[in-house]
Amino acid sequence: MAILLDTDAEADAWRTALAGLDPTLEIRSWPEVGDPREIEFALVWRPRTPDFAAFPLLRGIFNLGAGVERLLKRRDLPESVPIIRLVDPVGLTGPMTEYVLWQVLRLHRRGPELEAMQREKRWDELTYPLARDRRVGILGQGVLGSDAAARLIALDFDVAGWSRRPKPLPGGRNFAGEAELPAFLARSEILVVLLPLTADTAGLHDARRFALLPRGAGIVNAARGGIIVDADLLAALDSGQIGHATLDVFHEEPLPAGHPFWTHPQVTVTPHVASLTHAETAAPIVLAGIAALRAGRQPADTVDRKTGY
Ligand code: NAP
Ligand code: GLV
Repeated sequence: MAILLDTDAEADAWRTALAGLDPTLEIRSWPEVGDPREIEFALVWRPRTPDFAAFPLLRGIFNLGAGVERLLKRRDLPESVPIIRLVDPVGLTGPMTEYVLWQVLRLHRRGPELEAMQREKRWDELTYPLARDRRVGILGQGVLGSDAAARLIALDFDVAGWSRRPKPLPGGRNFAGEAELPAFLARSEILVVLLPLTADTAGLHDARRFALLPRGAGIVNAARGGIIVDADLLAALDSGQIGHATLDVFHEEPLPAGHPFWTHPQVTVTPHVASLTHAETAAPIVLAGIAALRAGRQPADTVDRKTGY
């Protein structure tokens, strides 16, 4: 039996990492699929495969990243085949936490204003609150949000998390569900978006939600562009309701050259690099998932197709 590798990112690194762990693996790189009846597992990121239903013995689809919204839009994924998303503490969670800490600290210490002051050769002692008095809200208290929240709490920030279902946040406060979203937003001076893009979260951040934040709040979106309504964010930036937005993800990627985010003085753009998959650390995790499925066990990070994450 064979593994189909269909990724438009780091395909060579994946082949090397997988073969290094198990030289007996038969890895077929798309489009060299061979006999479709021999494909047992598919390892995919932005796959080009036209029809997954064409692999009659497919036992699992491994998404080589955390977000599965693109994959779940497809109509050719057999219901019986589990989709497993990537949870990689070292290669994916750690770098996302680095990004969140970097951007939250930058906003907390008024980095964008200091950078503008240097450009203008202006000397002004900008003040800032103590970390314990800075309220940070993490939208999405899942694998990535929980780790980032814990590190921010360790730095003494006043942290709250928002999740679909109530769950503890040691050293911080959890808000859950739509009913608690207004109270959560009202206390979020720096808002970090780490939600999956689903039917429930698409367009969640519109004018109504921006208006609930404290005036001048900062936003860091490291999740998916579709969670934010761009026109409403631009209006909130222009009115001063939002002080600064740091955006790693966009409705359309690459961000089109003419998009106002590129040049807006209160927007920082990073090109979807908050956390990149590392084949070296992710390959053993994927192989452990394959071993679990072969042993008749469901891997922990199997996607719930109903909730969309
Ligand atoms: P996860 O472990 O599945 O966590 C998702 C969190 O969002 C959970 O806490 C979940 O609540 C919450 N949630 C989902 N729908 C909700 C809703 N309708 N209302 C309230 N809370 C809701 O996901 P993750 O591994 O942390 O990843 C999050 C996202 O980050 C990914 O989906 C991906 O889009 C993005 N990402 C971006 C990059 C990048 O480079 N920019 C890299 C990796 C990932 P419950 O805890 O109650 O289930
Ligand atoms: C990256 O955006 C991911 O979902 O892993």
